[in-house]
Parts: sequence; structure tokens; C-alpha cells
Amino acid sequence: MGHLFKRRVVLAVCGGIAAYKSAELVRRLQDHGAEVRVIMTHGAREFVTPLTFQALSGHPVHRSLLDEEAERGMGHIELARWADLVVIAPATADCLARLVAGRADDLLGAVVLASGAPLLVAPAMNQQMWKSPATQANLAVLRDRGVLFAGPDSGDQACGDIGPGRMLEPAAIAQQAGALFASGTLAGRRVLITAGPTREPLDPVRYISNHSSGRMGYALARAASEAGARVTLVSGPVQLDAPERVERIDVTTAQQMLDACLEHIGDCDLFIACAAVADYRPASVQEQKIKKQGDAMTLSLTRNPDIVATVAGLEHRPFVVGFAAETEKLREHAEGKLLAKKLDMIIANDVSDSRIGFNSDDNAALLLSPDGEREIPLCSKDQLARIVVEEIATRLPEPAPHSS
Ligand code: C5P
Repeated sequence: MGHLFKRRVVLAVCGGIAAYKSAELVRRLQDHGAEVRVIMTHGAREFVTPLTFQALSGHPVHRSLLDEEAERGMGHIELARWADLVVIAPATADCLARLVAGRADDLLGAVVLASGAPLLVAPAMNQQMWKSPATQANLAVLRDRGVLFAGPDSGDQACGDIGPGRMLEPAAIAQQAGALFASGTLAGRRVLITAGPTREPLDPVRYISNHSSGRMGYALARAASEAGARVTLVSGPVQLDAPERVERIDVTTAQQMLDACLEHIGDCDLFIACAAVADYRPASVQEQKIKKQGDAMTLSLTRNPDIVATVAGLEHRPFVVGFAAETEKLREHAEGKLLAKKLDMIIANDVSDSRIGFNSDDNAALLLSPDGEREIPLCSKDQLARIVVEEIATRLPEPAPHSS
């Protein structure tokens, strides 16, 4: 499950009795994590009301190419660009013929032509229509063009015939749609990443924090997502947008970051602790702004929980990766943290080098794990993130049976 996490699916419903099953298909696609928008042809609306699909998808149904209201909101080009995947279910014999001809005189045809997204078609028609040379020839042309097909099934038909032409069951279509995105070295894996600084309040207007920009953690989230993982990013306050399809949870303090991690660690396969967590927080937070008194002031601090060590200490722990930002004795300190925090891998940076570290675009690292090490020379944080993700992927244990 989850291969369609945050994938944007346009579901086009044509006029056939199987249109009623497409209502369930919306649900099954959503089960896989998809966001669904529905197009209904004129014929489809003779079988099922748009209200059904509006209620299930949570969005108005797109109906007509020349619908002025739709053009102002999400017109055919916008809808075509929005889609990561277009599914036509049910696809009638007429629909297949129209696709072959490249017709654009209705919304469905125009969206298919205007979209670069993969097209998955679930045909549904009378068995004789399915077997007809015209339909089979259309099928061959569409296959040649890279159109993907789900079904049809064989069996009893609404018209009383028995044979091929029944629409594949919604769960099977959704499964096939998900499989299209189930590639990449972290396909189907669940990953939790911490990023950015934490802020530890002193009073209503002041806090203790650090210069972490969050860029490395966000680059890792992007790289893991591109490798097919379902990624949750627990982020301290940063000036960055979440990468596409990454679920972002905003936190401020170390304690909030720990709470969010423990809440979401669930069946994660991998935890990457990239956040620059404040080691200490003020022992107490003053309710009112602290007034200056005299020439010196002493702050009393108390230790924050160690998030990565806590996760590594869980009974059902994921693969755990930490970072070590050091100004001296890089290897020695990193090896110490690898052992002390019971990590499976540590990525060590020499932050005394001004070209790398907290606020720069680039990074270089020494990757250490119990089974070896790799020196990663200066490169962009995006490149480094991709290398780290690939290194992790080769070491990740096989997924437990429950986390398919
Ligand atoms: O001990 P140090 O702070 O150098 O360890 C760095 C690693 O530990 C990083 O992966 C960081 O995200 C993690 N860490 C943590 N919770 C803390 C302190 C550090 O998860 N309270």
C-alpha cells in the first residue's frame, strides 16, 4: 500500500454500466494514498450522478471542455498538468476509438492529449465488441503508443453474455496503478526524517537555537521520495518548502520533535536524524519577558532528550541513521556516536570547513557504518542526499511482511 501516496490521479469515467464500480475505484485509489479528481463524460452521467463522485473525491466533477466555470478553476490544460497518472475506467469501445484518433472535442480527449502522465485504461464492453477486429486493432495501436491496460476480466456480463469485456475489479485496477510507481531503491518503504534546528524558548520573545538551515534534511526527504519511499519529515523552523509528496510535520522544540517522531515512527523502515537538535533547553520558561538586571546573567539549562538514541532504543526499531557535525577529530567522534547511540550508519561532516555545513549549499561527508565506510567528496547537498539514500538502500533489511 501507499505507492500512490500524494500521487495525483485523474480518473475519467465513460458511459458504461461499469461506471458504478468506478465510485469504488475512487476509494481504492485513495486507499493507496492518491489524490483523485474525476472527469465524467456525458455518457457516464447517464449511469451515475456526478454528486456520487464529488462526494467520494471531495472535489467537483469535471464535465465539459467548454465549461466556463471549470476553465476558470482547473481547465483541461491545468488538469492535464496536475495529473501524475490518468486512469480511464470504464473505457468503452468508443473511447478506445477516440483515443486512437486523438480526438479533443471533449474534456477526456483533450486531457489525455495534453497530459504527459502515464495513461492506464480499464476497458469494459460487451464481449463481442471487445473481440471485434476494430477494437482489437485500436488496442494494438494504443499499446504501441505506450498506453497501459488493466483488464478486461472475463465472465458474466450485464448484457447477459459471458466472455471477456468485464471491467477489472476496482481493487485490482488500483493495485496496477500503484505498481506503476513502485520503482526505485526505496519503493514502498516508509521513512521518517528530522530536519532543521529546534528552538527552545526562554520567555515569550526569546529562544535558544542554532544556524541549521534544514537543507540537508530536506534534500534527503526529496531523494528518499524520488527513490520511491513514503516520507514523513519532522521539521524545525526553516525557510523551505516541503518536497513534493513529502508529509511535513512542523515542530519547534526538541520535546515536540521527539513526540512527533514517536507518534509517526510506527512501521517505518528507516529513520534519518538530520536535525540540529538543541542539546539543552532553559530549565524553566518565563511567562513574562525577562528584564535585564545588572551586568551578567546566568541561565540554567536542562538536557533535552536524545531523539535518535531514543528511536534506536525502541524494541521494534527501524534502520537508524544519524549525523555528526564535528569541528575536530571527525572520525573518532563520529565512531563514538555510532556506538553510543546504537546507530546503523552515521554521516560525519567537518563543519570547521567553511565551504560545507549548516548554511551552505554544498557538503562533503564521511559515511561510517559497522560494515564499512565511504568518503563522499564535496558536492551539492542534493547529490550527497542521493548518494546517502543509495548507500542506505543497499543495507536496508528486507521489509517485514506487514509493510508491503
Ligand atoms: O550528539 P550529537 O548532537 O552530535 O549527535 C548528532 C546526531 O544526533 C544527529 O543525527 C542529530 O539529529 C541527533 N540528535 C538527536 N537528538 C538530540 C541530539 C542529537 O536526535 N537531542
